[in-house]
Amino acid sequence: MLSASPACLPPLAAAATRVAAPRLGVGVGVRQLSTSHAHPQLMPAPKDFNRTPDEIVAELNKHIIAQDDAKRSLAIALRDRWRRQSLQNDDLRKEVTPNNILLIGPSGCGKTELAKRLAAFAGAPFVKVVATRYTEVGFVGDDTVSMVHELAEQSYMDEKRRMKDLVMDQAKTRAKNELIKAIMKNPLSDTWTESLISEYLDDGRLNEMEVELDAELLTRDEPQKSPLADIFGNMAGGPGGGMGGGRPGGISAVPIGVSVQGPNASDINSKLEDLFGTGGRKSKKKGEKKKVKVAEARPLLEDHYANELINEEDLTENARVAAEQRGIIFIDEFDKLITDKQENEGGYKGKRKGVQKELLTLMEGTTVSTKIGRLRTDHVLFVASGAFTQSKPTDIMPELQGRLPIRCELKPLTEADFIKILKETRYNLLMQQEALLATEGVSLKFSDDGINEIAKIAHTLNTETANVGARRLKTVMAKLLEDLKFDAHKMTGKTVEVTADMVKEKLATMTKQSDLSKYII
Ligand SMILES: Nc1ncnc2c1ncn2[C@@H]1O[C@H](COP(=O)(O)OP(=O)(O)OP(=O)(O)O)[C@@H](O)[C@H]1O
Ligand SMILES: [Mg+2]
Repeated sequence: MLSASPACLPPLAAAATRVAAPRLGVGVGVRQLSTSHAHPQLMPAPKDFNRTPDEIVAELNKHIIAQDDAKRSLAIALRDRWRRQSLQNDDLRKEVTPNNILLIGPSGCGKTELAKRLAAFAGAPFVKVVATRYTEVGFVGDDTVSMVHELAEQSYMDEKRRMKDLVMDQAKTRAKNELIKAIMKNPLSDTWTESLISEYLDDGRLNEMEVELDAELLTRDEPQKSPLADIFGNMAGGPGGGMGGGRPGGISAVPIGVSVQGPNASDINSKLEDLFGTGGRKSKKKGEKKKVKVAEARPLLEDHYANELINEEDLTENARVAAEQRGIIFIDEFDKLITDKQENEGGYKGKRKGVQKELLTLMEGTTVSTKIGRLRTDHVLFVASGAFTQSKPTDIMPELQGRLPIRCELKPLTEADFIKILKETRYNLLMQQEALLATEGVSLKFSDDGINEIAKIAHTLNTETANVGARRLKTVMAKLLEDLKFDAHKMTGKTVEVTADMVKEKLATMTKQSDLSKYII
């Protein structure tokens, strides 16, 4: 028998009331269910990153082996940002620009990984671009600005996720109330009360039950490319927009109207909406109903209400400030922009020079009109990276060199480093494989001599064929475990130990044919 629960349902929300969000750059703007019950989490969070350099290095050490110089420089760059933001004198603060960084080192030694981990740790909007993209045939100049559009988009998505987290408790309550309302319309038993349904919803008993809900409430909040995105992207790059005339970057999760300002903006918006539809989640017809299982409906409803509780204007502004003050743009293959002195002027050479000049403009500081507003690039941290095997950093345009004052040389990884990468990094490759096979009840173990052998083979392959750095470990591991992974489902309950002999044997069949690289790219 099911028993009624005394638990009361939270009252359905009254009219949503806007709570003013102080503009602290990382402040939070959300709609509250009730101003009298202000949620403590909704207070502006001073999320400014204030970790010390040694804390930053310690964090990087969890994921990246060796490369101490680069870790130090990146930690200083991040700390300098915090120092700058702590400056009281506004004018002085404006003058302090970041010391952009040039990472030099062979393939697969951790350049990109370092920058990614740093950005994740700092909660900074981060984008990675490849410099050669801008020199490709058919690429129109000035488009380097698209990296700023991408940063804006990333920042918007990060901020949205953060703000959604803050309102999630309220959104869950609303979603649950909506489900209760729907179930009460057609209860399976006369004895069901709201509080009983609430209890059943909590313990998952109603997961398979079908409910009828407004289709509008069930649309997934996925960033979608709207036809309007292009229009607004272009409009935003209009006169006075600095370098904003570039192509609008990719998908648009940004609401309509963000980029269109002025007296006729809403008029333009509604006309364009009539023409194209919104392309987003509100395209469902009003009143349309849909039958769904409770378990499927719940996360969609929660997402819907979380979106509703977020104030779009504050979200956009927070995202813009975060991108401007904390954004990191990582430019890979920077060395490919260097021109050869023997090369003829014009053609590719001209293009590469052109891209260097455009990057200089971005690094010197300019305004780009993005979908989240006008974004200054002065304080964005640029991290450029390249192998510089065919060229030297001194071949970069002198002015651009000046904008990359910090140079870090990353070392090629040794066999001993490979062992550490395998054993000591967080969620390392060994742990990953063990966990994957454990899902099928196979217990995988790596002995120390087995690990040493993997590192040795990976290192030998790098020396004898192309040096792809630590990436080699992944390909060696894939080959080594290929048979096991194919058959694991038939091996439940078994233990497999990877020893040096096993590694040799598994890879020997191939090494016998003298060239291992034929089989392991
Ligand atoms: N020092 C390191 N410590 C731990 N793992 C590393 C290290 N270097 C590389 N790796 C691993 O190898 C992968 C490739 O590294 P990464 O992308 O940083 O190479 P890269 O230096 O940027 O090379 P490329 O010049 O080819 O872009 C990473 O995802 C990471 O798993
Ligand atoms: Mg890289």
